Formats: sequence, C-alpha cells, structure tokens
Amino acid sequence: MSQLTRVGFVGWRGMVGSVLMERMREEGDFAGLEPRFYSTSQVGRAAPDVGVDAPPLADAYDVAELAENQVIVTCQGGDYTKRVLPELRAAGWDGYWIDAASAKRMDDDSVIILDPINRAVIDRALAAGTKNYIGGNCTVSLMLMGLGGLFAQGWVEWMSTMTYQAASGAGAAAMKELVAQMGQLGAVDPALSALAIDRQITAQLRDGSLDTSAFGAPLAASLLPWIDRAVEDGQTREEWKGHVETNKILALDPEVPVDGLCVRVGALRCHAQAVTIKLTGDVPLDEVEAVIRESTPWTRFVANDKAATLAGLTPAATSGTLEVPVGRLRKLRMGPDYLTAFTVGDQLLWGAAEPLRRMLAILRE
Ligand code: HSE
Repeated sequence: MSQLTRVGFVGWRGMVGSVLMERMREEGDFAGLEPRFYSTSQVGRAAPDVGVDAPPLADAYDVAELAENQVIVTCQGGDYTKRVLPELRAAGWDGYWIDAASAKRMDDDSVIILDPINRAVIDRALAAGTKNYIGGNCTVSLMLMGLGGLFAQGWVEWMSTMTYQAASGAGAAAMKELVAQMGQLGAVDPALSALAIDRQITAQLRDGSLDTSAFGAPLAASLLPWIDRAVEDGQTREEWKGHVETNKILALDPEVPVDGLCVRVGALRCHAQAVTIKLTGDVPLDEVEAVIRESTPWTRFVANDKAATLAGLTPAATSGTLEVPVGRLRKLRMGPDYLTAFTVGDQLLWGAAEPLRRMLAILRE
C-alpha cells in the first residue's frame, strides 16, 4: 500500500479540520503527498500552505473530481458524508474514506479508528478490504486512551461513565458562545460581596440577556446535563454512543455494558469523565495502575493525591496536548471489585483529529 499519494481533504477549515491540518504539518505528514483540497463555498481559491504543492480548491460535491483520490479525509460533517459517500461508491470509487463524522460509524462496512487501542481490529479490516475508517466519539476515544488497557485485560464487567464535556464538542460557535457568556458574567463589580455577585449573575443567567443560541441555555456559571438528542430509554445519543462505540472499537464479544450520564461543563476543549468500573474480580490496585501506565504511550498515570491531581488531572493542564492523564484511582467502598478513576483529554486531538491523521499514516505504511 506504499503508493498512496493522492489524498483529498474536505472540511479542513473547520475546527476539527484545522487541528488536523496543524497536526499533519507538525508531523510532516504532507511530505510525499499530492493533496487536493475541497470546498463547498470557495472553489477556485488557493489551497492552504501545507509545504507541498496543491491545486486550487475544487468543488467538494464534484464526485468525478473526488474520485481521482486514493484516500479522502473529511471533517465536513455527517450530512456531507451521507450525501457524497454513496454517490462516490455508486460511481465505483474504491478508495479509502477517513471521516470524523458519526454518520457511518456504526455501519457494518466501517471500522471506528483508535489505533493505539484497536490496531488489531484496523489491521483485520484492512486485510478484509474494508474501505471506511471513521473516527470515534470524542468521549469514548478519550476514555479508551485512558482506560483501554483494563478492557484488554478482560477486567471490566461493566463501566459507568459520568462525563464533564467541553464546549468545543458542540462546535466552534458553541465554544465562542461560552466565552461570550463568561465575558458578560465576568463584568460584575468585584468590590461587591460574594452574595451580591451571585444575585447579579443568577439574574443574568435567567433574564435572557445571554446569547444561548448554540446550547439553548447558559453554560457559563452553570452546566447542562443533556448532550445531543434523546434516543430511547431516557438516554441521550451521546450516552448511547458510550456503549455501542466502546464495544465496536474493541470488537468485544460478549459486549461489556457501558452507560452513564453525559454533562456539558464550561471547559473549552477538554472532556473529562469520572468512571466507576465493576471489575471481574478483586484485581490489586498496583496491577490496575501498571496496566493503565502501559495502556498507550500517551496515557499518563496521576497519583491519587491533591497536588498531583490539581497539577495534572485538569482540562487546564491537558488542553492542547496529546497526553491523556488518568488519576483518582482507588477501590470504592462498595467492595474490592469496584474501581473508580478520573480521566481527561483534549477532545480535538485524540478525540477527533489525531486518529484520522494516524489512519492516513497507517494506509501509507
Ligand atoms: N459529541 C461530542 C460532544 C463531540 O458533544 O462533546 C464529538 O464527539
């Protein structure tokens, strides 16, 4: 597969696409590629500067033009995938489709990519001729980058994940909305008493003066225990993904139940989650720690003490890095089979862009 050079990029100007371009430039991934960049609105303009020549932007809906590529990498979103991929396949295109959107994730002809965790699943799919490689839900990918080793050991009977998800997961406009709310609320007179400040901010949260068009309710100085749309049994779609994607990524058989509550908080781009794990037995804590340390080269174990936790196990410490810290590890009062842990990760890196650029690199190996 060493001859893969013609790679098309769609949706490279959005938030995930921009992080992907940045990471590919950092890693020198464009060397040896003949990239083509597509646009839905700026056809004919110059391609971005990625260090190698590229023709002007082509039409992202031009199937004949897209079909010239051996690989297409898209961060354009699910509607684009649903419209263009079937047209490409119907036209006989046999290339590799690498996609950040969830649209094709659960289809039988797709693999969810998270190679530090499921390289064997990816390799089997490549050997079997699978052509669609889809990035996972950010929360699921970050949980597995932290705790995937425990599944690999067969130690997880079930897992409950309680998430603390950043604004970026809802998109660039949502992120900016949070910051605008912070600015508006932060303009309070600091000389006022804490109770007076609270009264003023609570009034602002309720009086409709904040822009909430992205989230539907204020996020700053609050939180939103609902992400995405309702599915069934009272679950949100984000919560549903936890089970189905974890099991698909790891190709678990029998399935391991994963469920919990997904909550939006006022972090910018790092998702965090508190997990409760029912272990399959009384695995000693030092063995659990050793497996977490070895999970991936990016997984970082954080000692369960206050100084290490505040220094290393927060969105502030993790944002913009590829590290996935895991800490607060201990057995719960419920019994020796009950483990808790907390993990954090940048949802635009391992949660979105990084698995895509690595999949492209795997195809070029
Ligand atoms: N659905 C995720 C969220 C982001 O809303 O945070 C994409 O995986």
